[in-house]
Amino acid sequence: MKNIKLLTKKLPLTVELKSDHVLIIDQTKLPARLRFIKLKKYQQAIAAIKTMQVRGAQAIGAVGAGGIFLASQSYRGNNPNYFMAFLRQAAKEIIKARPTAVNLAWGVKNLLIGLNDSSVSSMRQEIRRRYKLLLENEVANNIKIGEYGQKLIKSGATVLTHCNAGSLSAIWYGTATAPIFSALIKGKKIKVRLDETRPWLQGSRLTAWEMDRVGLDYAINIDAASGYLLSHNLVDIIIVGADRIAANGDTANKIGTYPLALMAKEHGIPFYVAAVSATIDFSLRSGREIKIEERSGQEILRDIKYRGQRVAPGKAQSFNPVFDVTPHKLISGIITEFGVLSPGQLARIKK
Ligand code: MRU
Repeated sequence: MKNIKLLTKKLPLTVELKSDHVLIIDQTKLPARLRFIKLKKYQQAIAAIKTMQVRGAQAIGAVGAGGIFLASQSYRGNNPNYFMAFLRQAAKEIIKARPTAVNLAWGVKNLLIGLNDSSVSSMRQEIRRRYKLLLENEVANNIKIGEYGQKLIKSGATVLTHCNAGSLSAIWYGTATAPIFSALIKGKKIKVRLDETRPWLQGSRLTAWEMDRVGLDYAINIDAASGYLLSHNLVDIIIVGADRIAANGDTANKIGTYPLALMAKEHGIPFYVAAVSATIDFSLRSGREIKIEERSGQEILRDIKYRGQRVAPGKAQSFNPVFDVTPHKLISGIITEFGVLSPGQLARIKK
């Protein structure tokens, strides 16, 4: 892969602003089918987030902000106060769609903050301008993460990642995948190992789909095999994404990240988190304050099948927390658009 332009042909945008709608990839249909959905109303943006048609911190932030854009487009009326009240109500509903990734509230607030003008049409225009800029800036930030992060990957290295912190979790290019793509563009010979990531299989359905499209050498392992990989020197570096990072660097990410970080410590393998600065929530002192989403146990017991049958007896109960928090002391560095920072250096980029 000689340059980033070739990558644009292989990886479509996950979230795209069109004249009167927002176009997203339906991630529930991957890897079998690349299907796009047109979002025309803010309620459709909320439904897409809730049903995981779009998922991943930056992508839901982009679709949440898209919800505000759509609400501004659909509003009929000329009263600026009513218009703002309508948008604030939409914002409340959007932010509630999923609780852990801070990017959702960030995206929504970005479009609304300080918005005031005497006319509805000029506010509508301003929202569209902000939304376009937000999408462009996020992609530029991911490319910077790639540039900083690829320096951590030596040619010949094997990188392990968990879940999908790829292009599909962002607007494009991804966070954990950004250093991988940039290393590929630099001509480094690398291998990628993917935790399949139960129960939604973001690793095997989505990250593998991305690796496949760009032609990377990759292999999927079950989540429980990662200890084997680390203890047999089959991994040189781990890079994961983040859904919310507290001010002290404690990081919420897909369930299974915390045990992976513990094992990385035990085996002396560098463990990096890649995230745009919008994922840092400076209002939270530590990871203990991060709200962890619990989803229906049916996702484990009913939605995943064993040769067409249920994986547990009909009356079995289950518990399905979908994120965990990795304490900052287990993190070698956080790769951001401002460079690679130790958890203790995060305050440097606080705006
Ligand atoms: O439940 P999801 O698929 O929205 O969770 C996403 C993740 O946790 C990913 O692992 C990712 O690291 C964060 S998104 C950049």
